[in-house]
Amino acid sequence: MSAEYPIARPRRLRRSPAMRRMVAGTRLHPADLILPVFVKEGIAEPQPVASMPGVLQHTRDSLRKAAHEAAELGLGGIILFGIPAVKDARGSAADDPDGILQVALRDVTAEVGDAIVVMADTCLDEFTDNGHCGLLTPSGDVDNDATLERYASIAVAQAAAGSQMVAPSGMMDGQVGAIRAALDGAGYTDLPILAYSAKYASAFYGPFRDAAECAPQFGDRSTHQQDPAGPLEEALREVRLDIAEGADAVMVKPAMAYLDVITRVRDEVDVPVAAYQVSGEYAMIEAAAANGWVDRDRMIMESLVAIRRAGADLILTYWAAEVARRL
Ligand code: PBG
Repeated sequence: MSAEYPIARPRRLRRSPAMRRMVAGTRLHPADLILPVFVKEGIAEPQPVASMPGVLQHTRDSLRKAAHEAAELGLGGIILFGIPAVKDARGSAADDPDGILQVALRDVTAEVGDAIVVMADTCLDEFTDNGHCGLLTPSGDVDNDATLERYASIAVAQAAAGSQMVAPSGMMDGQVGAIRAALDGAGYTDLPILAYSAKYASAFYGPFRDAAECAPQFGDRSTHQQDPAGPLEEALREVRLDIAEGADAVMVKPAMAYLDVITRVRDEVDVPVAAYQVSGEYAMIEAAAANGWVDRDRMIMESLVAIRRAGADLILTYWAAEVARRL
């Protein structure tokens, strides 16, 4: 090789694992990871979720153990989803002080104290008999403003049960403001809100609906969740509105198919940005790995690094505990 000047050799910085580790631009830390967990009322043993191998519907007892482990691993937080034994049109169990989510929040906070952040998903779809995220109008549409009153009441019930952060995920307009006002009115002025702000009507939620038993019985969520083909600015508008209404941190969801949205949101705001690596992202990798088609462990790490590199400060992932163990 004869050149008039030495050729550039980027490969010099890739020569050894130590060199690559030193110059890595993206690092994962257990404190950046949040573990989503499901707790089901009235089961004697944890139940596997068929479409999410490795994920369980917990009993109260097995959830306590999972929370304990999450704290020992130094995760950033744990977010609870509750599955009640009885569902109705109002989702009455969602704000019942003795409802499964509130009971589980008390269990988990008793177990981990404030070692990690204990949060609750604030929504109705796990609690309504029709699987929708809100109250319905007679014609079957989700009634935005009537639903806000339910969300406000649910957030206060979650706060009273010890939740250290609430995460409204229903994509009703005005939900963050309604929840902020209700929390403040009940004396929870210091309780932060992690808003699912840019949440798309995504096919990637499919397996979650098995895990949380919340598939809509009719229709879908496309009148309130964002259209995957919608304008990118719509995500920025949702995020700005949520921050104006009092969101302390915002979320983009799903993650891998929306890395551009994560980047734009990160550039736009001055609050922490979370991204949710959702059930379908999990299931795709697990299913391909079970077939021997991909290297599971490398694919998990690569997917998380990509989400971090796009700009997410926090990642909700069903692999949080496993990955923290590996870091
Ligand atoms: C709504 C909610 C959903 C998810 C998180 N919160 C379901 C939906 O919007 O249909 C999906 C999470 C996942 O797919 O992992 N409570």
